Amino acid sequence: MRVLIVGGGAREHALGWRLSQEEGVEVIGAPGNAGIAAIGRTVPVDPTDAAQVVALAKQESADLVVVGPEAPLVAGVVDALRDNGIDAFGPDREAAQLEGSKIFSKEFMARHDIPTAGFAVFDDPDAATRYIEEAGRPLVVKADGLAAGKGVIVASDAAEAIAGVDKIMRERAFGDAGNRVLIEECLVGQEVSYHVVSDGRRFIPLAPAQDHKRAFDGDKGPNTGGMGAYSPPPVVDADVERKILERVIEPTLKGMAAEGRPFRGALFVGLMIVDGEPMVLEYNTRFGDPECQTLMTRWKGSIMPLIRGSAQGDFGGLTPEWEAPASLCVVLASGGYPGSYEKGKVITGLVEAAEHPQVTVFHAGTALRGDDIVTSGGRVLSVTAIGQSIDEAAEYAYAAAEKIEFEGKQLRRDIGWRARTR
Ligand code: AMP
Ligand code: GLY
Repeated sequence: MRVLIVGGGAREHALGWRLSQEEGVEVIGAPGNAGIAAIGRTVPVDPTDAAQVVALAKQESADLVVVGPEAPLVAGVVDALRDNGIDAFGPDREAAQLEGSKIFSKEFMARHDIPTAGFAVFDDPDAATRYIEEAGRPLVVKADGLAAGKGVIVASDAAEAIAGVDKIMRERAFGDAGNRVLIEECLVGQEVSYHVVSDGRRFIPLAPAQDHKRAFDGDKGPNTGGMGAYSPPPVVDADVERKILERVIEPTLKGMAAEGRPFRGALFVGLMIVDGEPMVLEYNTRFGDPECQTLMTRWKGSIMPLIRGSAQGDFGGLTPEWEAPASLCVVLASGGYPGSYEKGKVITGLVEAAEHPQVTVFHAGTALRGDDIVTSGGRVLSVTAIGQSIDEAAEYAYAAAEKIEFEGKQLRRDIGWRARTR
């Protein structure tokens, strides 16, 4: 069986790694990275160009296409694959609007009584500015469309919020994604990433996770794609998890079906837990990166029934089992990330780092140059370890992260701090 994995991050490597453990499965990265090349093959492609992805899937006689990132989903890559009779994992374009338009997703939550921060929508920067001046309290300003995680300004005062409106709507820093803005109440609490996979009828809850979005220790510095993650976070106790499922996941999937956009694929809800009450910050219509790396290493056995079941619209009798009680992932990034950074630095120590049986090193921005593996992106590697506890997983992950070197290597030393005792 041939599986095409669209994307080239550590999330895609983790999905491919799990799928390639199945007897007779061949994994092809589109475009992939050096890690995916080592477990299969890679082929260059523009992941957001639906026609190119369909042509590649046909050329490779792919039996299944797994779409990792959001941009191809919003661009309708899954629709094009299904129109050509190819099984694809991920939501179609209509269902991907939950992530593709923040305003669609807030209005959807309002229609279905799903708990979220109060909000207002503006298509005129003057009106947005007046609203902020009158409110006089901390607010969050968001560009409506996809902005690679950079279109959100959590403002501590009115001036910062107004500067956010200017950046999005007047300077058009995110292009058409900033045609409209969303202004939200600021929530205070602990963030959690909750994933389920749906086949359009049933859903399978995955384990809760928590990521670390800021670049530096102590949750300081600029926002990044994620500098590390761990699973499970203690803030999600049985009561909080029940509330997430009953108040958020069930009404979301039912609401999408009722509105004629049944959701198939991975739904990742970003939540703020405010005094034990889950509030939705955002929907993502794909796995989180680096959350996926912790979920894939904890999962017991093959994920093929989960991924193919979702793609084909029927999980059958699948019940998930978790192999490892805990997992923790440390991201190694290029010096300067999320700002500008240099590429092409030789990476050493990869084999030594992966010698520990509980450690897996997933590649993100890596490439082959002759016999060397070199850096080719901001987030370079996801060093992931499982353990009986978060402490144990952290010990193995950090010991492995120490063995890997490249010029400018940047990492956070405090991943999982809320759950660690040492
Ligand atoms: P989003 O892409 O909408 O999840 O926003 C990115 C980040 O901004 C989130 O992970 C939160 O850290 C923060 N954020 C978003 N919305 C809010 C809110 N209403 N209150 C507080 N923080 C928020
Ligand atoms: N780690 C957050 C994200 O994938 O959006």
